[in-house]
Amino acid sequence: MAQIVTLSNPNLRQAREELRVSEAFLSRYNRPGPRYTSYPTAPVWNDSFGPNDLEKVHAEANAAKSPVSLYMHIPFCESLCLFCACNVIIQKNKSVSPPYLDILKREVEHVSRNVSKDRPVVQFHWGGGTPTYLTPPQIEDLFHFTQAQFHFAPDAEIGIEVDPRVTSREHLETLRKLGFNRLSMGIQDFNPLVQKTINRVQPYALTRELIQSARDLGFQSVNVDLIYGLPYQTAETFAYTVDQILELTPDRIALFSYAHVPWLKKQQNSFEGHLPEGIQKFDIFRTGLLRFLEAGYLYIGMDHFAKPGDELAVSQQNRTLHRNFQGYTTKAGADLYGMGITAISGIQNAYAQNQRDLPAWQTAVEHRGIATMRGYHLSEDDRLRRAVISRLLCHMVIFKEEIEQEFKIDFDQYFAGELRGLQSFQDDGLILLDANEIRTSWLGRIFIRNAAMLFDPYLEKQQLASKPLFSKTL
Ligand SMILES: C[S@@+](CC[C@H](N)C(=O)[O-])C[C@H]1O[C@@H](n2cnc3c(N)ncnc32)[C@H](O)[C@@H]1O
Ligand code: SF4
Repeated sequence: MAQIVTLSNPNLRQAREELRVSEAFLSRYNRPGPRYTSYPTAPVWNDSFGPNDLEKVHAEANAAKSPVSLYMHIPFCESLCLFCACNVIIQKNKSVSPPYLDILKREVEHVSRNVSKDRPVVQFHWGGGTPTYLTPPQIEDLFHFTQAQFHFAPDAEIGIEVDPRVTSREHLETLRKLGFNRLSMGIQDFNPLVQKTINRVQPYALTRELIQSARDLGFQSVNVDLIYGLPYQTAETFAYTVDQILELTPDRIALFSYAHVPWLKKQQNSFEGHLPEGIQKFDIFRTGLLRFLEAGYLYIGMDHFAKPGDELAVSQQNRTLHRNFQGYTTKAGADLYGMGITAISGIQNAYAQNQRDLPAWQTAVEHRGIATMRGYHLSEDDRLRRAVISRLLCHMVIFKEEIEQEFKIDFDQYFAGELRGLQSFQDDGLILLDANEIRTSWLGRIFIRNAAMLFDPYLEKQQLASKPLFSKTL
């Protein structure tokens, strides 16, 4: 039986022991599943939800006076990384930016009319694609335009995703001057063969210099993205990448599992046959996890590590951690307004996604001001399950009484089937069940998506789809 650890005491020896798993174990747990950046997940949303529905939700949010989180999507990249599963538009010719920015500003302006000025913007995130595909003056112009339409809190968290290969010192100076305080850098892996195979050659020195510049300029937090499971990666080569990362001392590390979805991203077929799988892939993850723990990072859960004093770690200890489309966040209770092609909003008890192709998004914004393509209103049952799944993914424990009080249910009765399903997780050392709580072991924290999936009744139907909708959990 696996021993249960507290989050403040990540007991390395125990992690090392629990993380020795067999092929048979992996074949039981390594199966397609969502990452639960929303519940219900996007395939459940429907296209009968349109702009009028979203505007009703905007009005509800104004009445609730909840704080605001803004997301800006810049879809462009200069070249295609062959592993990439993001919504990107590859365009070397930068003449695409000005027309995109013109439409985006119209959308920002329209959305801002629906957000009353007494609601503070506590978080502003630019993602992509690669937002630093834009020139510094373009970034400055879009930032000032947006700032003028909303009321930003003085201590707002303002972050951006940057690709070091296309980000200059001038970019960083502009971002810092504007008030950006968080940077997230794509790295993935430093091994030359891996980099060549994924078409992303990114020298270590270039990355180190950019991180140094970010520190000199006073960015509060620097995150780096890594991926395990890339072609030609081995535990040994990845250990070297991890050591190089540790020299850069990032505040946060995202260690993503490579999502292999060739039915959606055909270019991923180019390295089929060279991908580490099963135990090999797990060993790469295990190597990264143990090295980061040894170096003093805390494992937040679902791919994320942070230094002990970092807000993510503190907020996990205080049980105020929350999950949204950008992953873990400390801004629980904020309504998220997504702008730009494919952007997602999570407002009150609804989700909405923008049009996913450029002409459709542009036409919709020109005619209607916003470009909702699909969305979803949560039912009472959805909200209850969302709370359970979120607690599992953020806190690694569910206190039944909290859920019972919030949703006026008898937990054991309502979730009798799910609790029966969790018995085998307990037998496999992933979960500890008792009368009051459901708690994860170290191994359970790694396979937390599998436990969350038990509480998701939509999955059964989704699993019947002709092509898988999700990547595997490992
Ligand atoms: C929008 S990109 C980051 C910013 C910038 N475009 C860059 O690449 O540096 C977001 C991150 O998603 C992750 N990612 C993309 N495709 C992935 C895949 N197939 N599996 C796992 N992670 C992936 C990468 O770690 C990447 O850094
Ligand atoms: S990983 Fe980043 S730079 Fe590479 S294609 Fe994806 S979004 Fe663009």
